[in-house]
Amino acid sequence: MSDPKTDPEAPTPVEGPRIVVTGTGPNLCYGVSVEADGFIYMPEGNKPLALCACGLSNTKPFCDGSHKALNDHDITESQDIK
Ligand code: FES
Repeated sequence: MSDPKTDPEAPTPVEGPRIVVTGTGPNLCYGVSVEADGFIYMPEGNKPLALCACGLSNTKPFCDGSHKALNDHDITESQDIK
């Protein structure tokens, strides 16, 4: 990714509420509340809420780091993770 400070063609970073899809890990929710199981979760400060996108978390809908087991595997094809 290019740096907007040194590359005039780089996209300007978006401020405000947003969800960042990381592709290999959780979806990061900045400034966005999440309702789950009858509770509303609010992000604290600049920290995002991390929503599981891999389906392996034991704390769904939140990421618990279990996606790291996928990092050594090709996730473009369906396969069992051991
Ligand atoms: S994305 Fe982290 S456990 Fe699923």
